[in-house]
Amino acid sequence: MPGAGVQGRADVTGRFISFEGIDGAGKSTHIEPLAEWLRSHGRTVRLTREPGGTDLAESLRALLLAQPMDALTETLLVFAARRDHLQRCILPALADGAVVLCDRFTDATFAYQGGGRGFDPTVLGQLEAWVQQGRQPDLTLWFDVAPDVAAARRAAARAPDRFEREDLGFFERVRAGYAERRDAQPQRFAVLDAGQPPERVWQAVLHAVQTKAEAEAWW
Ligand code: TYD
Repeated sequence: MPGAGVQGRADVTGRFISFEGIDGAGKSTHIEPLAEWLRSHGRTVRLTREPGGTDLAESLRALLLAQPMDALTETLLVFAARRDHLQRCILPALADGAVVLCDRFTDATFAYQGGGRGFDPTVLGQLEAWVQQGRQPDLTLWFDVAPDVAAARRAAARAPDRFEREDLGFFERVRAGYAERRDAQPQRFAVLDAGQPPERVWQAVLHAVQTKAEAEAWW
């Protein structure tokens, strides 16, 4: 079939689901199980992440997570990575009819660079429009959890990267940044209480995806 990928189906509408939340919210735990669940329902799934998802964007991710830089440099690198990721991974996968599951997308920029770093949200909106040309996730799963709970989980799990070394006040601002995005675009957000045990969070993930899929006749 012209235009169809090896496994993709050009006759099926691609769907774009992003996973968001502060570091330690537990979002990454649920991405692979959701991919399996979607595959068991006959969908082709593309798993990816931001910053990252292409060779170029993964190289930028390594710099972003390790190198000191100012907020403008950080923001421009995040959007440069996103542009490459959209052009060479996300948009082709959607055109092939895949469900794209993306671990973070632009809401993270509004939350971390906007809320956390205090970068001007008007400029972020301009960069967003320029880079994305109106493309937004169909559904955003926001794993919302109190920053002190997330900090305790991170301390038990891993060595911190440059963002994870920030203090509780930073993560309070990041959380507020997510809340502003949800308030501005409520139709695409599902807010999940990520302070619950993982099994309960997983049920909430499934409920959010099924509700959205039924409301918008995804399949
Ligand atoms: P994360 O996605 O949490 O990966 P891991 O689970 O391996 O830690 O890490 C990516 C970090 O990048 C996270 O701390 C948030 C940050 N980030 C931004 O600051 N802005 C962005 O636009 C994106 C996508 C991520």
